[in-house]
This record gives sequence, structure tokens and C-alpha cells, in this order.
Amino acid sequence: MRTSMFRSVESALRRARCFSSESSPKRKVAVLGAAGGIGQPLALLMKLNPLVSQLSLYDIAGTPGVAADVSHINTRSEVAGYMGEDQLGQALEGCDLVIIPAGVPRKPGMTRDDLFNINAGIVKSLCTAISKYCPNALVNMISNPVNSTVPIAAEVFKKAGTYDEKKLFGVTTLDVVRAKTFYAGKAKVPVADVNVPVVGGHAGITILPLFSQATPKGSNLSDEEITALTKRTQDGGTEVVEAKAGKGSATLSMAYAGAVFADACLKGLNGVPDIVECSYVQSNITELPFFASKVRLGKNGVEEVLGLGSLTDYEKQGLESLKPELLSSIEKGIKFANQD
Ligand code: NAD
Ligand code: LMR
Repeated sequence: MRTSMFRSVESALRRARCFSSESSPKRKVAVLGAAGGIGQPLALLMKLNPLVSQLSLYDIAGTPGVAADVSHINTRSEVAGYMGEDQLGQALEGCDLVIIPAGVPRKPGMTRDDLFNINAGIVKSLCTAISKYCPNALVNMISNPVNSTVPIAAEVFKKAGTYDEKKLFGVTTLDVVRAKTFYAGKAKVPVADVNVPVVGGHAGITILPLFSQATPKGSNLSDEEITALTKRTQDGGTEVVEAKAGKGSATLSMAYAGAVFADACLKGLNGVPDIVECSYVQSNITELPFFASKVRLGKNGVEEVLGLGSLTDYEKQGLESLKPELLSSIEKGIKFANQD
């Protein structure tokens, strides 16, 4: 039984490798912060993705070990590890997609904004290098506070003359992953079939799951249940931070979410039609310059930022309440990037 299961996994992997080497274009993907809590499992998951031909693992320390380890896995991509600032250029050169989980995570009692002072500088210097070495790459920003780090990246790219709003993404997939899991449990529907858009931003009340648009419809959920599901999704990160009790924030579920979003970006680049994911991007669907919503991905990154659809009064209220906080995080990022 076990042997036949392993055989079928092996043969699925073999088919994926065969398909990828024959028909999928070469794609270089870099993970910046690859030796970290998210970076390591994300490196593993990207090594398993048959759309990746070259995997570039960069960190300020520890990458040779991670790269040597991951490189022994018998899948398509070649793996290289780069360590320290003088190897950053090599890590980035020729990249189609750069994923950034570099920076410090929260401890209990902290907000994501408390990470701003350290992570803003890290993101600024990594994005400066991206604008120099791979200005056409798609950028998936994971480092917190995402509500501010994405505007920082945009300003850095603008200053360098390389900004393309279609290519910059704040990764909010973990909010969607959580909303799907929590909804499936309450609505008693198979979790693999669930879709729930999550809009706004990626911190506390700026995370707005639209459960009125969740599919499939399962058991009818009361207003109290919707309120509890919304709050649990908004506090999902804090739930993990508290459970880890000082040892960091979500890493494994984040690596999964990051890999799902990166895979969608690669499929879009490769011309696969109808790839839609939620992401925090430059947007004009509200008055805020950056906003998370459903986005159609294509050969140049964002093909279309999709609207919010119809909202319940509860969701409309949530939307209005999140705007001041999200705007202030955006302005904080822009101000930081433009000082000096
Ligand atoms: P971690 O401390 O385990 O790993 C971070 C890694 O970044 C470390 O290996 C560190 O050496 C590296 N690093 C620091 N400065 C760097 C630089 N200048 N260049 C390259 N690498 C650098 O932290 P983690 O748990 O992996 O979390 C990383 C970030 O992701 C945090 O900011 C966290 O808040 C954020 N995060 C975001 C989401 C999301 O949904 N967007 C989810 C979880 C965590
Ligand atoms: C998350 O949502 O898990 C991340 O943003 C990490 C955190 O600090 O909560």
C-alpha cells in the first residue's frame, strides 16, 4: 500500500519534470532571506515547482548549507546559494521572480508595524539591488509590515526609474489560506473547494475577508459566526505568534502561501489563462493607492485589478474602518523611502 503510494508520487513527479523540461520556459527565481524560518521551507517548495529552472537562494548568512541541502532533491531546477551583500548582484541577475521574506518577525505583544524600523531598511536596500540587477523581475513582498514595505519598494523603484506597477505584489495569500480553512470548518464544506476573497491590506482590521462571496455555500452562517470568522482571519498571525511564544511568527503556512502565490505568478508569466489571486498592489478600485483585491495575472504581471463585487453592510463598514489605518501605513512607507 505504502510502496504503491510512493510509486505514484514518484511517477507524478517524473511526469511533472518531463513536462516542464520539454514545454515550460526557463525561469529564474530568487528567495531573499532564504535561510530564515519562511525562507527554508519556501526554498524547498520552490525546488519542487517544475516551472522553476534556476533557484537562487540569498541571505546574509547560512545560505550555502540551505542551498547544498535543497540542491540534492531530484527536480528540474539548478540551485545556487549566495551569502552577503557582495553576492547579491549575482543572486539577482536574470531573475524572472524575486520573493522577499527577509527581515525580523514579530514576538508576542508586537504589531506588524513595530517591525517597521528594522525591516523598512532591509527592504529598501534589497529593492535598490533589484532595480539594478533584475529591473524586469516580478517582486513578491512577504516582509512585514506589508502595508508599508510595498509602498517603500514602489518608491525605491520610482527613484531608480524602473517602477512598473504591474510587477510589484504584496503577498496576502496567507490571509486567503486562513479564510478558506476557517470558513470550510464552519460552513462544513470540503476545504479544497473553497474560495474566499480577502481584500484591504495585511494587518489587523485592514485584513477584510469577504465571506459573503465565499464558495461553495455550505451551512447558513449567522451574523455572529461571520463576525467570529472575520476576527479569527484578522488575528490569524497573532494566533501563531502567541502559540510560538517568542520563537517567531508563521513560517510553514507562510511558505505554503508564498509558494502558491509564486506559482500563480509563474503561470501568469508563462501565459496560462485565468490565473486569479488576491494580492496587495497599486490600485484604483478605492481611493487608496495600494489595496489588496483579486488580481488577474498575465505575461507582464498584473493584467487586471478586479473590483470588490457586491458587499454586505458589515463588509462595507469593515472597508470604511480599514481605510485610515491602511492609508497611514502607506504614507509612512512613502515618507521613509523618500527621506535623505
Ligand atoms: P526569520 O528571522 O526566521 O528569517 C528572516 C531571514 O531574513 C533571516 O534568515 C535573516 O538572516 C534574513 N535577513 C535579514 N536581513 C537580510 C538582508 N538584508 N538580506 C537578506 N536576508 C536578510 O523570519 P521569518 O519568520 O522568516 O519572517 C520573515 C518576514 O516575513 C518577517 O518580516 C515576517 O513578519 C514576515 N511574514 C510575512 C507574512 C505575510 O503574510 N506576508 C507571513 C509571515 C511572516
Ligand atoms: C502573518 O500573518 O502570519 C504574518 O504577517 C506574520 C505576523 O506577524 O503575524
